[in-house]
Amino acid sequence: MWVKVCSISEISEEDVFGFEVEAQRLAVYNIGGKFFATEALCTHEKADLVKGYLDGGIIECPKHNARFEVATGKCLKRPAKHDLKTFPVKVEGGVLYVEML
Ligand code: FES
Repeated sequence: MWVKVCSISEISEEDVFGFEVEAQRLAVYNIGGKFFATEALCTHEKADLVKGYLDGGIIECPKHNARFEVATGKCLKRPAKHDLKTFPVKVEGGVLYVEML
């Protein structure tokens, strides 16, 4: 099921946007004009990654500085041990959609 998130003009380059769908908090990212989506809560202690630091396609948790690759969700740095779930995205008519699996 594809869920409408927002207009792509609402997410500046190198920015993160958080939203809730079906009781899940998700994060969408604009990295060099390409969009990605992951679960928004850190796999360590559930800090909100939307408040984290995004740099070069890597999101750093604001709480204990775990790092994840946005495109794949891969955990790159402890204390988190588990990868983030990622979601397919598409843009249609300037609107960003995320596919809930
Ligand atoms: S909550 Fe994210 S690293 Fe601890």
